[in-house]
Amino acid sequence: MTVRVAIVGCGNISHRHAEAYANTGRTSLVGVADIVEAKARTLAGKYGATAYASVTELLAAEDPDLVSVTTPPGSHAEIAIEILAAGKSVLLEKPPVLSLAEMDAVAEAEQASDGSVWVVFQHRHGSGALRAADLLGRGALGRPLVAVCETLWFRPLSYFDPDWRGTWVGEGGGPTLGHGIHQIDLLLHLLGPWRTINATAVRLDRPVEFEDVSIASVIFESDAVGTVINSLLSPRELSRIRIDTAGGTLEVNHVYGYADQDWTFHSAPDAAKAATLGIDPGVRKADAAETGVEDDPWTASAGDDVPSNHEAQINRLIDDLLAGRTHDTTLASTRPTMEFVTALYASAITGRPVRRTDLTPDHPFYRALHGDTPKTELSESFRP
Ligand SMILES: NC(=O)c1ccc[n+]([C@@H]2O[C@H](COP(=O)([O-])OP(=O)(O)OC[C@H]3O[C@@H](n4cnc5c(N)ncnc54)[C@H](O)[C@@H]3O)[C@@H](O)[C@H]2O)c1
Repeated sequence: MTVRVAIVGCGNISHRHAEAYANTGRTSLVGVADIVEAKARTLAGKYGATAYASVTELLAAEDPDLVSVTTPPGSHAEIAIEILAAGKSVLLEKPPVLSLAEMDAVAEAEQASDGSVWVVFQHRHGSGALRAADLLGRGALGRPLVAVCETLWFRPLSYFDPDWRGTWVGEGGGPTLGHGIHQIDLLLHLLGPWRTINATAVRLDRPVEFEDVSIASVIFESDAVGTVINSLLSPRELSRIRIDTAGGTLEVNHVYGYADQDWTFHSAPDAAKAATLGIDPGVRKADAAETGVEDDPWTASAGDDVPSNHEAQINRLIDDLLAGRTHDTTLASTRPTMEFVTALYASAITGRPVRRTDLTPDHPFYRALHGDTPKTELSESFRP
C-alpha cells in the first residue's frame, strides 16, 4: 500500500521532504504547489509529480492522503486550514504557527476534519531522543534537576535577503521561534511541562524587527530548573541539551542533527559501588569496566542508530499511517512549545515573569508574539 503525498511550498526544505518520502518506498508524490510556478515545476520534474500554482488548484485536481506544508511560517495556519477543510492530513513545518490563536484555529479545523495535523520536529525522532524520552519518562535516569538548552547558531546578513525574513509578518519572530524552537521542543518533550519563565531578548546586530539573541530561565512543573539561550550571532555553531538528574548527566551536543555518538551519559558517583571497589566516590575512574558504568541505563538502552533528520521523522510518520497509529508529534503535543515561545516573548517584552497558566485567550500575547505592543515600545524592548 502507498500513501499519496503532496507538497505545498517548493523552496529549500521541500526537497528534503520529497527525498524523504521517496526513500520510504511507500509513498507516491502526486502533486506539488508553489506561487512561483518555476519552483513547483523544478520539484515536480525531479520526482515525476504534477506542478500547481496554489494549494487550492492542487486540492481541486489531486486526492492526496497527506500534504507537507513547507511555505514560510506566516502562511502555515491558512494553508493547513484549507487542507484540513478538504479532509486531508497535514505535515506542517516548524514553527507550526505564529501564535497560540493560530494554533487553536488549526486545532479547531483539525477537530472538524477527517484529516490530522503533525508537526515537523525531527529531533524528537532520532534514536537518541527516543531512548532519552523513554528512560526519563520511566524515571530510569533519576529525577531531572537542572537543564541547559542552547541554540547558538550563525546567520549572516545575506540570510535576511528574502522579503519575509526578519519581519513579524513573514517570519513571526527571531531565533526563539525560528531556530531555538527545535531544541526547546526537544527539551520540553524530555522534561514535560514548564511552569514559569523569566526572559530577556535583545537585537544586537542583525536587521530584524525582533531579537537576534534571547535568554530565559525556566522552572518546570517537576520543580526542575533550566536556562535556554537562542542566538543567531554565534560563529562556532552548537545545539546542546544537558539534563542533570539525580542519576547522572545526559547530554546531546550537535548542530543541525544528532547521531547516537552525539549523546553522552555520565552516571552520578555511586558511593556504595565505590566503597566495594575501594575508590573515592567523588572521583570518577576513566576505566568504565572498573567502575561498572558500562552498566548504566543509557548504555544499556543502545540499539540501531537513527540520526535526527527529516528522513527519520517522515519514515516514522509513514510507518504510523500505514499501521493506523497516530504519529508522536501531534499538533496538540507541540502546544507547550508554542506556549513556551509565547511566554518567552511576553516576559522579554514586558520585563515580567510569565506563568504557563497566564496564557489564556485574553492574554495580550495570545494573538501575536509581539503582544500588539506599540511599535516604538516594542523596538525599545529589544534594546540591550
Ligand atoms: N525542520 C527544519 O529543520 C527546517 C529547516 C529549514 C526550514 N524549515 C521551515 O520550512 C519552511 C520553509 O522554509 P524554506 O527555507 O524552505 O523557505 P523558502 O523560502 O526556501 O521556501 C518557501 C517556498 O514557499 C513558497 N510559497 C510562499 N507562499 C506560498 C503559498 N501561499 N503557497 C504556495 N507556496 C508558497 C515560496 O515561493 C517558496 O518557494 C519554514 O517554515 C521554515 O521554518 C524547517
